[in-house]
Amino acid sequence: MDPTGVITIIGLAWRGLICENLLSAIQADILKNVARNVTQKSLRKFPDDFLFGAATSSYQIEGAWNDGGKGWSMWDHLVRTDPDHIIDGTNGDVAANSYYFYEKDIAILKELGANVYRFSVSWPRILPFGRADYINPEGIAYYNTLIDRLLANNITPFLTIYHWELPQNLNEQGGWLTEDIVDWFGDYARVLFQNFGDRVKHWLTINEPSVHCNLGYAIGLHAPRIKSPGVKYYECGRHILLAHARAYHIYKNEFAHQGGKIGLALDSEMSMPSSNSPEDIQATEDCMMFHLGQFAHPIYSETGNYPQRFIDLIAEASARQGLPESRLRSFSQEQIDYIRGTGDFLSINHYSSNYVYRNASVVNMHEVPSLLDDAQLAFYKDPSWPSSFWIATYGPGLHKLLVYIKNNYNNPIIYITENGFASTTGLNDEGRVSYFREYLTAVLDAIDDGVNVKLYCAWSLMDNFEWTFGYSIRFGLYEIDENDPEKTRRPRKSALVFKEIVRTRTIDMDYNPDPYASSAINKKTSIVLLAAISLIKTVF
Ligand code: NOJ
Repeated sequence: MDPTGVITIIGLAWRGLICENLLSAIQADILKNVARNVTQKSLRKFPDDFLFGAATSSYQIEGAWNDGGKGWSMWDHLVRTDPDHIIDGTNGDVAANSYYFYEKDIAILKELGANVYRFSVSWPRILPFGRADYINPEGIAYYNTLIDRLLANNITPFLTIYHWELPQNLNEQGGWLTEDIVDWFGDYARVLFQNFGDRVKHWLTINEPSVHCNLGYAIGLHAPRIKSPGVKYYECGRHILLAHARAYHIYKNEFAHQGGKIGLALDSEMSMPSSNSPEDIQATEDCMMFHLGQFAHPIYSETGNYPQRFIDLIAEASARQGLPESRLRSFSQEQIDYIRGTGDFLSINHYSSNYVYRNASVVNMHEVPSLLDDAQLAFYKDPSWPSSFWIATYGPGLHKLLVYIKNNYNNPIIYITENGFASTTGLNDEGRVSYFREYLTAVLDAIDDGVNVKLYCAWSLMDNFEWTFGYSIRFGLYEIDENDPEKTRRPRKSALVFKEIVRTRTIDMDYNPDPYASSAINKKTSIVLLAAISLIKTVF
């Protein structure tokens, strides 16, 4: 090689070196920044007054379906008269047996470090025939004990008055389709305020009105299996709003001295336009109105009443169908005023999001009449979102929803009373772990944006009866084998991760506990305990 060649090589090498150094310096800087952001993000702490908890509902966990003086609910009726309707042929007769094993529930709540337990009261366990003329003392005693034990363990009870367990007796008299339910529900709520209000300070009147009316009275999947998506769906919703307001006013007029707070658990997905077209943007707003707005607007908006678009679209569709008046019965001004403002906080159950569109294809897409046809829209989930059954993981959706609530409903105190991921059996529930991390990150993002969110409850504390899916779908932080008579609660990986988040008040994305190791420890501990017990028995 001639000297110029050598010089060129040296030059190139030198330049390469400089470039490399420069590049690695830049890279290091970028990495440092990324690391700083990640660290800052992951080190973000939940504020001191932010609460963590877990949620359940009575029919899904209690069992003891005909013990302790309990009457029949419409679900007891459904699983007896139409057992094949439940995918795996199971029912809630025993479920997690929490009527007897409530101490096990308290133990795992403590293990998680939960500040809050959201549970529901079974209406027919308190009022076996539905009406308040006979109160079951054993039912009162059960919830008294549960509440006392929670408080003794420093866990705040959030009590849901109604989580879909309507007494069958009342169902046969019209249930949510008659306005009589406003009186029945008010009287039932009063019994709970009278008996538990000295200790319970957080009340949720009704769980997920939209889902309850949809599954029970529109598509007929849940009890009482009525199929009327364009008429009875709206009647159900109307009576739920009036009944909720009745309970609220009873509380404020007769029990204000108890000093508690009362609201209801609404449900909402976050809708996003599938394109920037004005049609899709309008359809997305309408979608929010037909889901969250139907129930949130009458209670939390300044004006009260249903959202105007909701009223207009149903009226337009009714007119198209040649009906003399809208299928949506309107509220009187007196009723609007009665419902408006009946929420001390806004509580939300959120699972997933969707993309919404409106084009010619939606015109004949849905059953007529139905709420979807009234809304004239369609939606889908992004196939890239990690999903399991009907839940697709998209954490930013929760962030957007919380900001939406803040902006549209006057920055209320928000409680997230359900959020969770579906799986099957097994302790290594990676999908749920990622889901919780993503959604809790979204909560932190919302807090950074000034949203007044104060509570996060995971759904669910433990595996339970998932309605028509029986035990084929699991939501528990703790696994339960439904065939095990002891209903042992075993922590899944998500329970260990959730516990660490509660303990540190931060989200450590690298925390990687082994759920099988922890149940092995439990196994060892129980063997030692059993050995000790038998030794004591032999000695004495
Ligand atoms: C919401 C309901 O409130 C609850 O009962 C149900 O189990 C979960 N979603 C999961 O589907």
